[in-house]
Amino acid sequence: MNPILVALDVDSAARAMALADALRGSVGGYKIGKQLFTAEGPAVVRALTERGDRVFLDLKFHDIPNTVAGAVQSAVATGAWMVNVHASGGGVMMRAAADAATRAAAALGRPRPLVIGVTVLTSMTEAALAQVGVTRPVLEQVVHLARLAKQSGLDGVVASPQETAAIREACGEEFQIVTPGIRPVDQQGTDDQARTLTPAQAMKAGSTYLVIGRPITGAPNPREAAEQIAASL
Ligand code: C5P
Repeated sequence: MNPILVALDVDSAARAMALADALRGSVGGYKIGKQLFTAEGPAVVRALTERGDRVFLDLKFHDIPNTVAGAVQSAVATGAWMVNVHASGGGVMMRAAADAATRAAAALGRPRPLVIGVTVLTSMTEAALAQVGVTRPVLEQVVHLARLAKQSGLDGVVASPQETAAIREACGEEFQIVTPGIRPVDQQGTDDQARTLTPAQAMKAGSTYLVIGRPITGAPNPREAAEQIAASL
């Protein structure tokens, strides 16, 4: 499938649906995060999934296992194709999320969503990790959490382009790696994303899916931008 997941980082369902309509067929799916979800709720997820679109519901659940299981169950009911949780919530929490996805999907007669872990947020530096008591280097912590995610039944992780190769090596070919921080060659270093790779470099490094926002949503013609990126892969 087309590995491009477009981040619908907009504040209204109307804008999200207009973008999705413009891009349908040129991308593999859409990512809905906390901004749009908090504004519009599950209705916007359903509006897309009912049209047959793949939705990555990026709410990064992190709570006690029972609460996360309930949240995943509710996410399955929206028809989400991919959901995520913080791997730092621990193995029991991740197992509860994976089991809830399996159970809820079976009960609703829907396909089971992929359950993905967030390892270390890319905004965290070594100093910021030390502040919360994690003293090993960032990459070691990322690989450690990716392994734990795999052992706990998750399907993959979200990872920065710099981390992809090490995770692929540690977790094997079947593990799904979802990579943000993607910029086409002519857009490297033009905004707040610091450590970027081009779409083709990220795929070569082992990414399964690419999360791309502004290079597509901020382009004068988003569909053309998406088609160019897809052609570059
Ligand atoms: O516009 P841009 O391509 O930077 O969008 C990237 C998307 O991926 C945003 O929704 C951002 O929140 C998300 N993301 C990220 N880095 C992470 C995790 C998620 O950029 N480590």
